[in-house]
Amino acid sequence: MAILPISASLLGLAASASGLSFSIPQSPPSNSSGQISAAPVGVSLEFFTFPEYLQDLPSTTKCLENLKDLTGTWPPVRIGGTTQDRATYNASSSNAVTYTVASTKDAPETLTYGPSFVSLAATYAGKVIIGLNRRLDDISNTIAAARLVKATMQNLYSIELGNEPNFFVDSDPIASGASWTAAADEASQIEWQDAVCGNLSASDIISAGVYFGTSPMSLVGLTAKEGDANEYVKDYCSHNYPQSSGNYNLTALMNHKDIATQIKPYAAEISAASAKGKPHVFGETNSATQGGGGISPTFGAALWILDYVMQTVVMGTDALYFHQGTIGNCQYCWWGRYDMGSPYYGAYFATMALANADKIAPLDSQDSAYAAYAIYKSGAPVKVLLYNSDYYTTGTRSSQTYTLSGISSSSVTAKRLTAQYATSRVDQGQNPTVAGQTFANGTCAIQGTEVVETATVSAGKATFTVKASEALLVFL
Ligand SMILES: *[C@@H]1O[C@H](CO)[C@@H](O)[C@H](O)[C@H]1NC(C)=O
Ligand SMILES: *[C@@H]1O[C@H](CO)[C@@H](O)[C@H](O)[C@H]1NC(C)=O
Ligand SMILES: *[C@@H]1O[C@H](CO)[C@@H](O)[C@H](O)[C@H]1NC(C)=O
Ligand SMILES: *[C@@H]1O[C@H](CO)[C@@H](O)[C@H](O)[C@H]1NC(C)=O
Repeated sequence: MAILPISASLLGLAASASGLSFSIPQSPPSNSSGQISAAPVGVSLEFFTFPEYLQDLPSTTKCLENLKDLTGTWPPVRIGGTTQDRATYNASSSNAVTYTVASTKDAPETLTYGPSFVSLAATYAGKVIIGLNRRLDDISNTIAAARLVKATMQNLYSIELGNEPNFFVDSDPIASGASWTAAADEASQIEWQDAVCGNLSASDIISAGVYFGTSPMSLVGLTAKEGDANEYVKDYCSHNYPQSSGNYNLTALMNHKDIATQIKPYAAEISAASAKGKPHVFGETNSATQGGGGISPTFGAALWILDYVMQTVVMGTDALYFHQGTIGNCQYCWWGRYDMGSPYYGAYFATMALANADKIAPLDSQDSAYAAYAIYKSGAPVKVLLYNSDYYTTGTRSSQTYTLSGISSSSVTAKRLTAQYATSRVDQGQNPTVAGQTFANGTCAIQGTEVVETATVSAGKATFTVKASEALLVFL
């Protein structure tokens, strides 16, 4: 590792008069998060392609292991997505999955999976949420799969009964010819929780809701109906994608204030789960729907992940599972068969920021482009995360200076997340860096010499410069 001495890149320049100042609260302030989970940043692997991710892509295990090396806990994994509601369990199949597609870029319209799918899921060293089918209304098939899941997976966190039922339609088997409304879904979720958990003699095992967005179906609505079935629920689950086709805007995606606005509707969902005594998870999330758009493989999307994780953890979510879709046809994916994706750098940095921490508190009021967070362990501040969400692509790169006060040590170190532009993509040769290092294409091995910056503290204060589209993690 290289230690850079205090330098102009870290010191506030003359512009610091217009810079920002934050005093670091010496204990978690009233707007800090609750207890942060051991590994809040996880991944969701699309159901039909989960075996391929684990067996054919060396990057999968290594990218997850890199995150584990930061926290000591393997990141949580969710196996599910649209194809979970197209999948039928076949107890006599020796294949993990069986399907045909016209093109390798397609997801199958129908598939079966055998016991080895579940055995493979059981090999993952971290916690797993597994998504089973409700849409096709074959409850005995789902119960057969759930029995095997419960018997086989020591690493099981929870089981979903259907994916994004807000998108089920009246002609789906589960609707039984009636209108598929929020009330119909709530009744169906609870009926299935009763039946599955009754047959499994299990409680605290279902990931409930699994709604895309918050309307017309919501956790607020579902929790109001749960009653005694709440005992079957392990967690309440939301899916969130800020952007969709025709609506791509990287400037907005990564903007600190816009992120606060985008996630606001989930505050009531998290409160509804909490009122039922259950954690909330974003069981599937990423930058844009349908595998992502042109904004999704960029460094700006990495910065979005960083700030989105911090803001949702402050709001009270337990974990976020960033979706990884069809291999070879997935703009937002963190890694592929060949190249890494820029967004992984944001996930890595977010994991580093929250690693081994108890609480995080926003220092700013989330109404500008400039974020600052204090991160606590055992009641004391241990890190500060600074994020300048100004969008940079061309011309002179602006910067923001942050003066932090309330630092007790005489010097501090910092690690920087940066790239040439907000639009930088690994596959175009504009590799981001995290503390000067990169992740190797095809293996996800961290490479290069680590660069740790240092800053001198004077009278409890130090000043840091963060360029547009950059973040800095200060270790107090
Ligand atoms: C289940 O798998 C067995 C063994 O491969 C196969 O013979 C059978 O046709 C499959 N059943 C279905 C419904 O796909
Ligand atoms: C088992 O599941 C069936 C639906 O397949 C349901 O009718 C039955 O009530 C369940 N048994 C228990 C004990 O919950
Ligand atoms: C959190 O509290 C601090 C005071 O400790 C305040 O300055 C800041 O604006 C608050 N931020 C939010 C998002 O509530
Ligand atoms: C990954 O591969 C791309 C070409 O597809 C290349 O431009 C980039 O520099 C490579 N990244 C690393 C870290 O080697």
